[in-house]
Amino acid sequence: MKPGKPEERKSIQGQLIQGVVHGTSCTMSKTFYVTTPIYYVNDKPHIGHAYTTIACDALARFKRLDGYRVKFLTGTDEHGQKIAKAAKDQGIEPIALCDQNSKRFRDLTGALNATNDDFIRTTEARHITACQDLWRRLEAAGQIELKKYKGWYAVRDEAFYDDAELTKGPKGELLAPTGAPVEQVEEENFFFRLSAWQDKLLAFYEANPDFIAPKSRFNEIYSFVKGGLNDLSISRTTFNWGVPVPGNDRHVMYVWIDALTNYMTALGYPETGGDYDTFWPEALHVIGKDIVRFHCVYWPAFLMAAGLNPPKRIYAHGWWTIEGQKMSKSLGNAVDPHAIIAKFGLDQYRYFMLRDKTFGGDGDFSEATVANRINGELANELGNLAQRGLGFIAKSLGGVLPAPGPLNGEDETILASCHGLLGQVREEIDDLAFEKAIDAIWTVVRAGNVYVDRQAPWTLKKTDPPRMNTVLYVMAEVTRHLALVMQPFVPASAAKMLDQLGVAADARTFAHLGPANALKGGVTLPTPTPVFPRWQAPKA
Ligand code: MSP
Repeated sequence: MKPGKPEERKSIQGQLIQGVVHGTSCTMSKTFYVTTPIYYVNDKPHIGHAYTTIACDALARFKRLDGYRVKFLTGTDEHGQKIAKAAKDQGIEPIALCDQNSKRFRDLTGALNATNDDFIRTTEARHITACQDLWRRLEAAGQIELKKYKGWYAVRDEAFYDDAELTKGPKGELLAPTGAPVEQVEEENFFFRLSAWQDKLLAFYEANPDFIAPKSRFNEIYSFVKGGLNDLSISRTTFNWGVPVPGNDRHVMYVWIDALTNYMTALGYPETGGDYDTFWPEALHVIGKDIVRFHCVYWPAFLMAAGLNPPKRIYAHGWWTIEGQKMSKSLGNAVDPHAIIAKFGLDQYRYFMLRDKTFGGDGDFSEATVANRINGELANELGNLAQRGLGFIAKSLGGVLPAPGPLNGEDETILASCHGLLGQVREEIDDLAFEKAIDAIWTVVRAGNVYVDRQAPWTLKKTDPPRMNTVLYVMAEVTRHLALVMQPFVPASAAKMLDQLGVAADARTFAHLGPANALKGGVTLPTPTPVFPRWQAPKA
């Protein structure tokens, strides 16, 4: 469907806005839309950027395996003063800088084995169309006015600040609350009537308590909005690296109105009737804690003002520090994800990022902790469990998976914990509690190793070979379950484990968990090799 004039479309969708309560479960529609922030191209990617992409990829993979139709979007944010300035500093055209650095972020998604369905660049024609359409809707709805702006702008944050928010730096210079330098701006700008949206935003948050997570961020935003909102300058005239304001191309749009719109551009907006209708009601924006205000205040206000629905959910994750210090250009301590992947392995790195800290909180990155997680958990626990079973089958039974005999209570207990695992993991994943999801999986990994120690198949080999067969079969079936649920986190390694268990490529979704698709005895398995070798520091 090609939408009509903005006013007509408003009457179609506008009625959905007031008092809308989003459903708490997306299982009904079985569609899922997850987005990363679009990354600024003034710099090259570091592990903070890689973090959101890895998390979104794990979510996208999880939902696909769980039967959802998924769309996963990432991309680059290419307009604004910060990019224009970075290009000028390098003596190149802004688009040349964008082309060069956008490619770095695109290459990173490949290096992370991310399964994004699209990679958006805000300099693309489809995006200019979407931004201008949103602008026209806001204009038609009487939400934009031209006035003089005098105030403070931090280029680094691409954000306006009030006098009251500023602090003094060591030399008495004025700084944004983020520590970014500010400059005085005096321009005639288009303003969005944000002040008029205070009550409607508060009502929206109250009706949708899951809109912002974790809860601490919800509370932060709720009090911020409760404290009152000023109108927001949404155009600039002092540079031209941006989307031209329709009908007045002396102005370019404020980079955040441009950037946020990317989430709809990728669904074909302003065309409706296709992906936009299918996926927008299920949109989850995963962002870092520093950009909560833009996503949780400005974005729903823009959308409601334009007669469109806000996304379903926004989750703000915490930040990584590096060996206790903030990652920053000036400290030169930004960690290159490619270097970590080369040193420790991709799945090991993905596992570490999702396992080592609470997603909503902050955490510290150090190579020593990565090595500890690899050796202590992936090698000694999960890898060991897989290798103990498969290695034994290879050595003692010529690689033929035995059929089980009658199951005893211990066999049944460990298998039951495998069969019940998805429910627990799903609950944690729906909360974006990756570390708790992995914890739940690890309860079974550890129980599996205890089971092997207690059953001691190496002893049964001499005393009771039929019982040894049952134990080895149970070990293989436990490993199959663990490999299936680990796929979102360590996709290539989980695939290797499933290959070694002879699990067909079309028998690897979550629908294949449980006894109905249990392994069949009598099948010859490929020669196993350790999936998670121990990490050893290279000899100097
Ligand atoms: N372009 C904007 C986002 C626009 S979305 C419509 C932007 N870009 S950014 O490149 O500066 O940051 C992208 C993301 O990286 C943000 O979510 C930010 O929180 C995250 N991180 C940057 N440094 C980080 C850490 N040290 N740790 C974790 N995440 C970090 O903001």
